[in-house]
Amino acid sequence: MSARVDVDGTTAALPTGGPGALGAPWSSGVRRRPDGEVEVAGVGAGDLAAEHGTPAYVLDEADFRARARAYRGAFEAAFEQIGTGVDVYYAGKALLTVAVARWATQEGLGVDTASGGELAVALRAGVPGAAIGLHGNNKSDGEVLAALDAGVGRIIVDSLVEIERVGDLAASRGVVAPVMVRVTTGVHAGGHEYISTAHEDQKFGLSVTPGPDGGTSPALGALEAVVARPELELLGIHSHIGSQILDPSGFEAAARVVLQLRADLAERTGVLVEEVDLGGGYGIAYLPADEALEPAPVARDVAAAVAAVCSELGTPLPRFSIEPGRAVVGPAGMTLYTVGTVKPVTVSPAGGGSSDAEPFTRLYVSVDGGMSDNIRPALYGADYHAEVVGRLSDAAPVLARVVGKHCESGDIVVHEVLLPGDVRAGDLLAVAATGAYGRSMASNYNALTRPPVVAVAEGDSRVLVRRETVEDLLALDQG
Ligand code: LLP
Repeated sequence: MSARVDVDGTTAALPTGGPGALGAPWSSGVRRRPDGEVEVAGVGAGDLAAEHGTPAYVLDEADFRARARAYRGAFEAAFEQIGTGVDVYYAGKALLTVAVARWATQEGLGVDTASGGELAVALRAGVPGAAIGLHGNNKSDGEVLAALDAGVGRIIVDSLVEIERVGDLAASRGVVAPVMVRVTTGVHAGGHEYISTAHEDQKFGLSVTPGPDGGTSPALGALEAVVARPELELLGIHSHIGSQILDPSGFEAAARVVLQLRADLAERTGVLVEEVDLGGGYGIAYLPADEALEPAPVARDVAAAVAAVCSELGTPLPRFSIEPGRAVVGPAGMTLYTVGTVKPVTVSPAGGGSSDAEPFTRLYVSVDGGMSDNIRPALYGADYHAEVVGRLSDAAPVLARVVGKHCESGDIVVHEVLLPGDVRAGDLLAVAATGAYGRSMASNYNALTRPPVVAVAEGDSRVLVRRETVEDLLALDQG
């Protein structure tokens, strides 16, 4: 990734915001003013709402940059210690806008894209082709050609069919395509089964385990197929084991499998690939009690493990790369909503009338967005933290559920949170740590328009992606 921008002064710790900051799961620029209003990087919640409306995704630019630097700094230091290098690619699927891609590039990260659309955003941002990777288990010819034309640094191939297709397309353009082969190591990790992508019974990658007839594994077969195509340059092996991983031992286990595969390929073909990508998946705090993964100890452990494995195998160390998405942008973002209706609902505990447990009251607090701007609670049962951010309240906290405005009872924004008992229509409410997979997975369900992405830095806010309008939706409808 030679074209990336080099930046001085990397630091390896995640930003905390220091004294006065609300702390995790909020971004480091979030603090409560003496009058009770919450501010982000010096801009009050009230001003943000007045200027940009609600709902709005609010991104703390300095926090994003600090997290990008922390990951890069921690991994560079740890891998330098063992005598090799590492490149950090920001996984754009978490949130990609032109400005966000620029921030990542300015902090010395490459950009990992998962479709032609994400590739186009990275290119529009001016990210050098050499610093871009293109993923996808079912890339179209158009996407592959766009990547080749942009001179992307790596196309991560995902099947035998695709290896032949990328080879043919490269031949048609008269170029050599730089590829990595995505393999599944059998190691899977992460907070939810749907986001664990290294199960053998899933669509991604090629397994290192031989099929029922024995013989060569699909992964080894694919690597050999790449070696056999002169239009393809085999850069390395790629493994992504899952997402929202809080136990880093999975990275070490996967690295061991990949390094063994690399040694096997070298033994069979004489080709020792130069790079191993360990994917993304670094977990973050969503709730005040959660412990985020700190990059420095993880990087140290992974580096030590790969050094030990390479020395056991007697193979020189490859260069490494990683692809964090959520860990860079997740905590940097919050969603600002306005409270509408508030309704106490009496809940009978499970077991109904026969249960000894007393019925209790849950306060349903409806906001002006919902599952269209954050599908994660409905899709994964994901938990979030929310606070009233426009004022201070000394009312006793009550058990609340924050819900959206969609026609669906599963339209839940925060399953369970304590909110001030006097929470009422007009209050501003913010949900923390929505920077990753919020806007990028947003929909227009019920013809709701997607909220803007607003960046805040040094006391100023600016729109990165404007709010969608109903006119935007109608413009697509051909009548
Ligand atoms: N690299 C590859 C090849 C990936 O497939 C992914 C995520 C990443 C990197 C970035 O992972 P991260 O560091 O952000 O965990 N929609 C789900 C997450 C799906 C992740 C898919 N792949 C969610 O909202 O939790």
